[in-house]
Amino acid sequence: MSIKIQTLSGYMHEYQKSVLQPEAFWSRVAESFHWKKHWDEVVQWNFEEPKVEWFVNGKLNITENILDRHLYTHANRTAIIWEPNDPNEKTRKLTYKELYEQVNRFSNALRQKGLKKGDRVVIYMPMVPEAAIAMLACARIGAVHSIVFAGFSSTALADRINDCEAKVVLTSDENYRGSKTIPIKAVVDESLEKSPSVESVIVLKRTGGKVDMKEGRDYWWHDVVEGQSTECPAEEMDSEDMLFILYTSGSTGKPKGVVHTTGGYMVYTQFTFENVFQYSAGDVYWCTADVGWITGHSYIVYGPLLSGATTLMFEGVPTYPDAGRFWDIVDKHKVNQFYTAPTAIRALEAYGLKPFEGKDLSSLKVLGSVGEPINEEAWHWYHDHVGKGRCPIVDTWWQTETGGIMLSPIAGITPTKPSYATLPLPGIQPIIVDEKGKELKGNSVEGNLCIKFPWPSMLRTTYGDHERCRQTYFSTYKGMYFTGDGVKRDEDGYYRILGRVDDVINVSGHRMGTAEVENAINEHPLVVESAVVGYPHDIKGQGIYAYVIADMTNRTAANLENEIRETVNKIIGPIAKPDKVQIVSGLPKTRSGKIMRRILRKVAEGQTDNFGDTSTLLDPSVVEEIIKNRK
Ligand code: WTA
Repeated sequence: MSIKIQTLSGYMHEYQKSVLQPEAFWSRVAESFHWKKHWDEVVQWNFEEPKVEWFVNGKLNITENILDRHLYTHANRTAIIWEPNDPNEKTRKLTYKELYEQVNRFSNALRQKGLKKGDRVVIYMPMVPEAAIAMLACARIGAVHSIVFAGFSSTALADRINDCEAKVVLTSDENYRGSKTIPIKAVVDESLEKSPSVESVIVLKRTGGKVDMKEGRDYWWHDVVEGQSTECPAEEMDSEDMLFILYTSGSTGKPKGVVHTTGGYMVYTQFTFENVFQYSAGDVYWCTADVGWITGHSYIVYGPLLSGATTLMFEGVPTYPDAGRFWDIVDKHKVNQFYTAPTAIRALEAYGLKPFEGKDLSSLKVLGSVGEPINEEAWHWYHDHVGKGRCPIVDTWWQTETGGIMLSPIAGITPTKPSYATLPLPGIQPIIVDEKGKELKGNSVEGNLCIKFPWPSMLRTTYGDHERCRQTYFSTYKGMYFTGDGVKRDEDGYYRILGRVDDVINVSGHRMGTAEVENAINEHPLVVESAVVGYPHDIKGQGIYAYVIADMTNRTAANLENEIRETVNKIIGPIAKPDKVQIVSGLPKTRSGKIMRRILRKVAEGQTDNFGDTSTLLDPSVVEEIIKNRK
């Protein structure tokens, strides 16, 4: 490890250097990795096209830095601890050597299925070590993985498979989730009716449940790895070769495929993992995310494994078999760093303190939070009852597009403040602008958060549509990356994220585009038009409120509301189901036909007057009706 921050003055010193001499700074970090060929230049960039390249012409394979490199020094250290959904099932542990062998065997199997560098592989799997093995096997042979969270519906899965034209899909027979069993191979079968690019499906046997295997297309995981060598030469990748695509929601249209490349992503995720969490060799680190989200990519798999860490993967949910499950796991595996989302904290808070009884949490050193703003109450509960007042909380702000943590305390070093992501990590140059793009300098300001200089793990494009990437992130404010988040910088220069300023909502830490949910609702045959907004929700952070105009002949409102929820469930998945559906006879529109979402948001929040300027409103009676029938 080249740079490990150990003191506050050390942080300030490195931060200064990273801004004044970014090339020298990142060179120093990158030197600690294994490169097949050294880079020619550290960074080349312009935010107009945009074009960003890090470690230009460097050659490497990220899995050599995860696997081969660690074999020399700690082959027998545990790489992955796996905790199953059912606490009575056996825990699995894989050492670095075992992980190396299993990744290589599966890499050879993928090559045998005809996969080559650049081909896309969709992974739709439960939280089992094979999901991580699948990711690393793709990276080993240069195939591009695109993980789709296994809670998404067959339609959502098909959309993603088709967008990246995946050749192979990796899945399992079924998936355990709390007390439920979900037949995910059947979901894959359904989506493949609409996905012609897929040549093979590899199915991991997880539950032993019955599945249909299509001759010539579907293969069992255990069959394809049978007899494969535990050695597999790693493909030589350019720094800027694609590592993975991850679909995420934006304010318009369909989810976009955020593209991350190899060299910069490797350097940044490892650097941030080790520093933010202050990970030391031998610690047990646990991030509760799913590998289907960016947090699982960067801080369950890549960052920790690049650091030679022991990373825990949990298959289940926080409340199964009861609300003490997280604390059982911390106790059982003596977890040192624990990283979760505010929504999980708030959900567990509702169960009171009984679930902590008899659980020894004294191994914990650092607590992390990610995915949405953490409210002060949840912050204190986390700090007092989970950390017993001893553990620093790192409130980490970042995004799918940023690849790694951007604003965060360094554990135990940066003084924390509840609900503040505090300060930028080395290499990150935030800037706050007003609506017009004017920089708001100094402290005690509030505006839109942009980043003015590239960092190694930033997105390079949106798959198959570079213009969309430019439009979405680089056109709102000239020469800057626009995050879509509002932010405040307080009197101490500390950053507090205020939430999205665009039409993206954050439900239980999951990103959702309001347009995406509206499109799904509109698929219901009786729906004429709909408008979706977020509203404050005690546990989920934000809930989904849908206003729907529908043909009510032969239907009761209650019936239709349920059907609409079911339609969304089918088209996107359970995470996008509206919490509230209100059938309306009209939507508040301007004379030019634009929906006045501001009014809808206020009504959903429970505010029924003071709508600001409504002079452009076409028909005020619509608003009265909406208020009267508010859910
Ligand atoms: C929000 C998740 C406040 C934010 C890593 C961002 C946060 C979006 C925080 C990205 C935080 C993430 N405090 N808000 N610590 N972390 N967000 O792409 O609105 O799933 O833009 O990445 O989540 O969500 P994504």
